[in-house]
Amino acid sequence: MALILALESSCDDSAVALVGSDRQILAQAVVGQNDAHRPFGGVVPEIAARAHVEILPGMIRQVLHEADIAIGEVDAIAATAGPGLIGGVMVGLLAGKGLALSSGKPLIAVNHLEGHALSPRLVDVKLGFPYLLLLASGGHCQLLEVRGVGDYRRLATTIDDAAGEAFDKAAKLLDLGYPGGPAIEALARNGDSAAVPLPRPLVGAKEPHFSFAGLKAAVQRAVASGAHRPEDIAASFQQAVVDCFVDRTRRALEVSDAPSLVVAGGVAANSSVRSALKKLAADHGRRFSVPPGWLCTDNAAMIGWAGAERFAAGMVDGLDTPARARWPLDPEGEKVRGAGVKA
Ligand code: KG4
Ligand code: ZN
Repeated sequence: MALILALESSCDDSAVALVGSDRQILAQAVVGQNDAHRPFGGVVPEIAARAHVEILPGMIRQVLHEADIAIGEVDAIAATAGPGLIGGVMVGLLAGKGLALSSGKPLIAVNHLEGHALSPRLVDVKLGFPYLLLLASGGHCQLLEVRGVGDYRRLATTIDDAAGEAFDKAAKLLDLGYPGGPAIEALARNGDSAAVPLPRPLVGAKEPHFSFAGLKAAVQRAVASGAHRPEDIAASFQQAVVDCFVDRTRRALEVSDAPSLVVAGGVAANSSVRSALKKLAADHGRRFSVPPGWLCTDNAAMIGWAGAERFAAGMVDGLDTPARARWPLDPEGEKVRGAGVKA
């Protein structure tokens, strides 16, 4: 059994976890910064980076203490090396390098997207490769064939906004605060998802790409019109995103014969998204897997698990590994208009 100490700091969550290759999470902690960013209606990179500097060291000590593990008992240090807000990535990666340097343990530089991509395997022992993955988070919306550790083929991406970004922008328009996804989901429970006519961008298109900018603009018009209840706008917006997910993922299922469909990333915490994709998988005779909500949103357990998978495959990294703001899982992925910004 290999024991991995993992650090995550690519956005506005500071997270530390101790994860075993036997899928045991010995201890973990996630500290969000919502209060610090709320006044700005979104994450302020500089504030996030400074907060990681203050929070991470104490969290590392706390997680080791809670598990009663000394740093010398750890087999490797995993740290997110990108993609993400570069200041925060640099803080966590350098903390990881410091731990690796002082303990003499190897460093594993983990791609945050690979953390999300492999996260279902931490809790779903039976989920084997390959699988079709809908990865929907605050920064990304992609359909990927996960063929193995470090082996990804991107089938589709967003041509403008990420899905979580769309949730956050819609929530801002409705004055629901940040982060928007959980707030929209809660408000949508009391709304009518058919009340507000909203577009489903790219639905029916041949390539399974996504687009959410037009949906956001339509929400803006619906709010400005004053003709709709906020809960109806929230429910209709959420339904539009779900319809886009289902249509685009169905298209990908037609071109991929992967036996399983998986959804991961922060937006996968949404129960309407989860149930719609579960049904889609069943309709197409595919096995379905989605991590529990806490494992969908940013955390260090997924970084530790990706680290454990990479460690088992002999993939360790040098102390000169760079921090990367952009780091696509599939560097060969077809270039999509506007996609460079998000990929
Ligand atoms: O994976 P994640 O925690 O961070 C990134 O890597 O981006 O995803 C955060 C995104 C945010 O945009 C947030 O609004 C969205 O996931 N999100 C949700 C829900 N919970 C988080 N979106 C819809 N419904 C939710 N319940
Ligand atoms: Zn994430």
